[in-house]
Amino acid sequence: MNILIIGASSAIATATARLYAQKYKANFFLVARDEARLSALADDLKVRGATAVTIKVTDFTDDAAYPQWIEEAFTAYKTIDVTLIAHGILGDQEACEKDVNKMKEMMFINGFSPLAMLTELANRYEKQGSGTIAFVSSVAGDRGRSSNYVYGASKAVVTTFLQGLRVRMAKLGVQVLTIKPGFVDTPMTADIDKSGPLWAKPEDIAVGIEKAIVKGKHEVYLPFFWRYIMGIIMHIPHFVFNKLSL
Ligand SMILES: NC(=O)c1ccc[n+]([C@@H]2O[C@H](COP(=O)([O-])OP(=O)(O)OC[C@H]3O[C@@H](n4cnc5c(N)ncnc54)[C@H](OP(=O)(O)O)[C@@H]3O)[C@@H](O)[C@H]2O)c1
Repeated sequence: MNILIIGASSAIATATARLYAQKYKANFFLVARDEARLSALADDLKVRGATAVTIKVTDFTDDAAYPQWIEEAFTAYKTIDVTLIAHGILGDQEACEKDVNKMKEMMFINGFSPLAMLTELANRYEKQGSGTIAFVSSVAGDRGRSSNYVYGASKAVVTTFLQGLRVRMAKLGVQVLTIKPGFVDTPMTADIDKSGPLWAKPEDIAVGIEKAIVKGKHEVYLPFFWRYIMGIIMHIPHFVFNKLSL
């Protein structure tokens, strides 16, 4: 099992990598910008059973570098069974409303950069004719809310892109999985109040990701109950929705 993890230092990606090291003794190609944390994760995965771990240090603001390190991943392992794209920023909605550059930064990291990576990856998976491309989107992309519509839009653009890519890849036997977590206790949400029953741990999300890949799913809400929550939120009429402070 060869796995490429983009944004490997994220809490959700790290938990997923640990699961794949323990369960599959996988070979890893890990990509992230923090060399110290990436090296520590590589050591950790080896202790947990990984067969081989290669790391690539790069900042995803450098989109010119994507083709090079994607090439390196496919050269290292010939076949990539699973690609997980997990980087992202939550950003500051108010700052994005006041400063167009903040809005662009969010759209670049959460939106444009996965689309550019997916375009490169899709052409390689097309030749390969097997495997899984998985992207960590968010329930926030299902309906724009006043509290985080820039973040939500940055996820929605990738979710929609994947809907089309999935159809293109289905004919070739390549799985395209959109992962939609709800609230997850990670560094990204460090400043948010964690009271209430809806919060999940990154380890729970990792289990859900692995199961969805094995089952060949095209979309998964994690935990599962977010499918029903979002089903309700998406169907609230506008005249009610506009009065809610969501
Ligand atoms: N936590 C939630 O409640 C939640 C809910 C739904 C979806 N998600 C999504 O889940 C994914 C993983 O997030 P997480 O919750 O695990 O949070 P996290 O631990 O904060 O992970 C975010 C990751 O993105 C990386 N990143 C951000 N900008 C980057 C850049 N310019 N270049 C390279 N790496 C960059 C960060 O790298 P550094 O560590 O080096 O900064 C970090 O590894 C994200 O796409 C997020 O939007 C999270």
